[in-house]
Amino acid sequence: MKIKEEEIMEDEKPVASKKVIIDIQDLYKSFGDNHVLNGFNMQLHEGENLVVMGKSGSGKSVMIKCLVGLMKPDSGHISVMGKDIVTLDQEALDIIRADIGFLFQGSALYDSMTVRENLEFPMRRHKEKLANVKDTEPFVLEALRSVGLEHTMELMPAELSGGMKRRVALARAIILRPKIIFYDEPTSGLDPITAKEIIELMRSIQKKYGTSSLIITHDVDCARVISERMILLVDGINYAEGTFEELVSSTDEKVLAFFKK
Ligand SMILES: Nc1ncnc2c1ncn2[C@@H]1O[C@H](COP(=O)(O)OP(=O)(O)OP(=O)(O)O)[C@@H](O)[C@H]1O
Ligand SMILES: [Mg+2]
Repeated sequence: MKIKEEEIMEDEKPVASKKVIIDIQDLYKSFGDNHVLNGFNMQLHEGENLVVMGKSGSGKSVMIKCLVGLMKPDSGHISVMGKDIVTLDQEALDIIRADIGFLFQGSALYDSMTVRENLEFPMRRHKEKLANVKDTEPFVLEALRSVGLEHTMELMPAELSGGMKRRVALARAIILRPKIIFYDEPTSGLDPITAKEIIELMRSIQKKYGTSSLIITHDVDCARVISERMILLVDGINYAEGTFEELVSSTDEKVLAFFKK
């Protein structure tokens, strides 16, 4: 009897530690004749770093926009932290978004706002999450400190280098202490050394805040260093899944194409 009990517990363990916090089922999205997503599936587990790779134009940004409710899929099911994103109204979506940090492709800072104002922006937008916060400055400072840029608070984005902008965008993504962070091409447009610094920051943020991360990239080095699991988006579907090592040693031509330099 005892052995049986132990067996049951062993069986349950992996399930408990692999709580699914994002579940995409059979996602379809077309623009006219352009069938971008053709039944894409994805699960993000709590605390993991999941990398989605796909070539330019394969639908990575479209997928992530559907995921945060910025774009409506033609069909499919999207659950984020147990909530059905596709059917939520604006107010309910906003509550979910307060728990999601988003590093947009290309940083996307507001050029007419200082670094401080850029960071305060999500705090003002999601006031309900910070109801007891009177002074935003400690939050802004801590987020900037996490990316090593506390001295830039009063600067304008135009006064920052590309790498610094990306760091500020990263600080903005974590300022609400999100449970999940989406990174859309976190290293694109950066030189290899700066890209490495950003990857290191992503790792330290993950450690510090225990976030779950979905990383969209076509940067093989980034994927190798940061991924615990990867999904390859090809022809609108989750074409292949596995660890970096599993995928890189695949014999499938479409999979191998990702890793050729
Ligand atoms: N709002 C839109 N209206 C029409 N077509 C769109 C729209 N957004 C994206 N698309 C199309 O969907 C396809 C996928 O675009 P998406 O931006 O998701 O690519 P991506 O995988 O993120 O590429 P990249 O690596 O270059 O960022 C492209 O063919 C694009 O033209
Ligand atoms: Mg994109």
